[in-house]
Parts: sequence; C-alpha cells; structure tokens
Amino acid sequence: MRVLVVGGGGREHALAWKIAKSPLVDKIFCAPGNAGIAQLAECVPIQATEIAGLVDFAERNRIGLTVVGPEAPLIAGIVDAFEARGLPIFGPSTDPARLEGSKTFAKELMQAAGIPTAAYWTCRSLAEAQAIVRAYYTQNGPEVGIVIKADGIAAGKGVIVAGSQAEAEAGLLRIMGERVFGAAGDVVVIEERLYGEETSIMAITDGETIIPLVPSQDHKRVGEGDTGPNTGGMGAYSPVPGIPEDTASVVMERILRPAVRAVRELGIPYRGVLYAGIIVTADGPKCIEFNCRLGDPETQAVLPLLESDLVPLLMGVTDCTLDKQEVRWRGGASASVTAVSKGYPGEYEIGKVISGLELFVGQEDCLVFHGGTRLEDGRTVTDGGRVLSVTGLADDLRAAVARAYEGLDRLHFEGMSFRRDIAARALQSVD
Ligand code: AMP
Ligand code: GLY
Repeated sequence: MRVLVVGGGGREHALAWKIAKSPLVDKIFCAPGNAGIAQLAECVPIQATEIAGLVDFAERNRIGLTVVGPEAPLIAGIVDAFEARGLPIFGPSTDPARLEGSKTFAKELMQAAGIPTAAYWTCRSLAEAQAIVRAYYTQNGPEVGIVIKADGIAAGKGVIVAGSQAEAEAGLLRIMGERVFGAAGDVVVIEERLYGEETSIMAITDGETIIPLVPSQDHKRVGEGDTGPNTGGMGAYSPVPGIPEDTASVVMERILRPAVRAVRELGIPYRGVLYAGIIVTADGPKCIEFNCRLGDPETQAVLPLLESDLVPLLMGVTDCTLDKQEVRWRGGASASVTAVSKGYPGEYEIGKVISGLELFVGQEDCLVFHGGTRLEDGRTVTDGGRVLSVTGLADDLRAAVARAYEGLDRLHFEGMSFRRDIAARALQSVD
C-alpha cells in the first residue's frame, strides 16, 4: 500500500518513521515533508493546506491511506474532500474537528456532556471581557489566576495564563484590542485557572471504539522552569509518573467516552485522533482543551513506545473496525526534547546549517525527528522555529532523559537552544 502523510514537522516525521516500519506499506509520500522525512518518504511540494492539490495527488498516485498531521487542513475540510472522492483518509471531518477549531464549541459540548472542565465565559467584545475579568476578581479576590483564550486557532499560542487582574487585562488588550492573533481574537473565552499536573491523553477512535495512547506531558513555555511565552511545545515525555495511576482510566470514562458519544449524537462520528489536554486537579482530571490530531512534540515521545504496527490502527479507523485491533506497548519511558531557532516563538532566522545528524544513523534508542528543516546544496539547514526533536528511549524516565540530552549535545546549529529541564519535575516526583 502507498501512504501519504500530510504535514512537515516533527510529528509527521515520527508518523512517517513509524509507518515505514509496517510490512503493509510499500511506499510513503509526504506533503510537504522536511529534510528528515525525505530519508523515509518521497516529499512532494504541496502545502498541507492545499486541499485540492492533495486530493488530486492522492487520486493520481493511488494512495491507499492518507494520514493528516496538523489541525489546519482538518479544520479546513481535507477529510470531507478526500471522502467525497472515495479516498481513505485518517482524521476527523470538519464538523467534529470543531472540537479544536472553536473553543466555544468545545466548551459547550463539554458542558452538555457533563465533562469536567474549568468554568468559563465567552466574550464577543473587549468591554464585555473586561467586565467579566473585573467581576471575577471582585468575587474571588486578588490571589486567583484566570486564563484568556483567543477563540480561533493561533498555533497553540493564543492563550494567556494570568496570575493577576493586571496581567489578565493586559492580555485582553493584546488579543482583542491590538489583535495580535488577528481574527482569532474576535471572540475570547475566559476561564477559571485550574491548578495541578498537566497531561495529554491522545486516543485513536473510529467513533465507537476508543484506544488511548500512553499519557504524555508537554512543556509549553519557552523557558526553563516554565517561564516565558507559550510555544507549540518544547519537549515531552511519556508515561507521566507524577499523576495518580487511575488518571488514564478516569479520563477515558469521564472525558473521552462522553465526548465521542456527544459528537456521534450530533450526527457525524469522530474518527481520527482525539487529544484531551488535562489538568489533574485536587478534584480529579479536568479537560482544558481538545485537539483533533496528534500533538507535537507528544507524538515524538509516544509513538516510539508503541510496539504494535500503527498502520492497522489507522486503517481500523478509516474502515470502522478498530474493535478488532490490539495495541502493545514496549514498556519503559521516553523523553523528547525540541531544539529551536534563536528568537522562537518570536522572530527567528532560518537557513543555519545543522551538524551532527549523521551520528544518529542506526540508533534505536536515540532518535532525531526533524521539524523545520530542509535540504540546501546537499546540507540540512534550519527552516522553522522548532527545528528538531531528539527522543531518548530507555527502561526508565531518568535514563531516557539522559539519552535525549546526550543526543542533543551531539547536534549543532547557530542559535540552537533547548530547555534543559524536560521532565525535571517528574523526575523529582519519582525520587
Ligand atoms: P490550550 O491552548 O487551551 O491548550 O492552553 C495552552 C496552555 O495554557 C495549556 O497547556 C495550559 O498550560 C494552560 N491552560 C489552559 N487552560 C487553563 C486553565 N483553565 N487553567 C490553567 N492553565 C490553563
Ligand atoms: N504540543 C501541543 C500540541 O500539539 O497541541
């Protein structure tokens, strides 16, 4: 079978790497791919959001399965377009993808389905939002935190976690006044701030059966000690030792199952990956967001732990036979650390030569997944903010983290930076 992977980041590199191990697959294409993916797949110069071009490509090249990495094409209707032409594709169609595309839709669905989540208010004007923030602080006192979220998608960066009223009001001015996220700031969702350990639980579902992947934890802030602005993700590890052991099963019963059922009852079943962003509060796990796809860099941490062939799972979704599939995990732990360009998540330069990549050839327990990279005159150069992730695998988390950092220390590009504290809090909790 021929498989097309849509996207060109570290998540798509990890997907292509895992799919390439399947005996069911003869050839992989990737649109648009990157320099690392090009070692496993034929990269085609079609952007992930050029839906018509991707449909034509899949039809002409007799693609048996298309797997979509990023959210933008899912929200824009890539699955609907492929299905209209009878082409098998893994991911939710536009309607269910609103779980990520619209925070208000997600919140309303959570409330209707009784899914535990933070209290929230939807605001359509700056004045309304300012009034909500003031009333919240009048009622709860100056000690509490509050969260401001631009309603549209803003690449994971449209969220301000405020510790005080002044910070919250400054955030509102940025999102709704200055429009730093553009039209994503037309509507904001204001939320009660939850406190507790965060975890991501990604599940594969065909709308009936749900197979959860091992829990992972992302590190969203750019700086060590969780400081500085939010990013797409600076590193992840899996599993997560700092949360109660029953977290995954509680999330399954109280969050994933009710969400999949509620979407099905709206008419179009959810098929693909449903990603629940969780904060494990003193009252148990609460859902802070849904994503309609795999996380980046969570995928680079989770997929290397999957022992089973991924392709039958993906196909079990496209032909609704997921109940026939079994999943095996290899045990142990993984840690994936993302190296970024100087200046990220603000402005950064690209085109810097990356050295040391050849040292990873043949390595099984230290893997490099490329994000923003491209080939230029036979050399691999940086081409984005998040440049690459190094995943270490080992029997325990401490060894996995050490392996990831040993790997990173062998790599170099001008302006390269990464967080030195991925999984540090989790390691303290297992001491
Ligand atoms: P989101 O884009 O909704 O995932 O939010 C980005 C990040 O903001 C999350 O990963 C959390 O770290 C944080 N966050 C979002 N909502 C809340 C909340 N209600 N309470 C505390 N932190 C939150
Ligand atoms: N790493 C967060 C995300 O992919 O949404």
